[in-house]
Amino acid sequence: MKRGKFITLEGVDGAGKSTHLAFIADWLRGQGREVVVTREPGGTPLGETLRELLLHQPMDPDTELLLMFAARQQHLAERILPALARGAWVVSDRFTDASYAYQCGGRGIAVERVAALEAWVQRGFSPDLTLLFDVPPEVAEARRAAVRAADRFEREADSFFARVRNAYLDRARAEPSRIRVLDARQSIAALQDEIRSLLQSLA
Ligand code: TMP
Repeated sequence: MKRGKFITLEGVDGAGKSTHLAFIADWLRGQGREVVVTREPGGTPLGETLRELLLHQPMDPDTELLLMFAARQQHLAERILPALARGAWVVSDRFTDASYAYQCGGRGIAVERVAALEAWVQRGFSPDLTLLFDVPPEVAEARRAAVRAADRFEREADSFFARVRNAYLDRARAEPSRIRVLDARQSIAALQDEIRSLLQSLA
């Protein structure tokens, strides 16, 4: 059985990435593939419990980072790796690039800490394709303002999201073949065209 592919979606809160998850899953299913749609933090019963804590419970930044990776370990072991092994394609709303962007860029944790956890938990494994939905700060800000019950991250200052965005863009510059930056100000139809051609090139 040919191993499936692992696709991740990234971007600051308010970039609009979640709108495109269903499109990606439907398009892949239309190609006859089994598709697993999942998210981080979350994706497993334990991961979803950790997500509740991460989004709502005040905590130290290093605790936040460790819980993100605890959830990720469980997600990989229980869901992602078994699905890929049976040939399914896995589409995850966020993965480790978010830890570099939010915990390093946003919270100021040293990159080496995240890199050490990544090496421990992933052992060289990484996404086949990452779609980075990028928008200027003011666009994401307006979209976040429309969210009623904001979580711990969504309540952060605009300067936090500016750092998160820059950290994402730095990662995209360092790994341009894996991380594809999409201008999320485009129409949904234009973005879908771009996404479709990226998926085609992966098949
Ligand atoms: P979501 O709102 O896109 O579902 O993601 C939940 C929040 O968790 C989002 O604000 C980003 C944050 N996050 C991190 O800070 N680090 C991580 O590693 C992940 C996966 C998410």
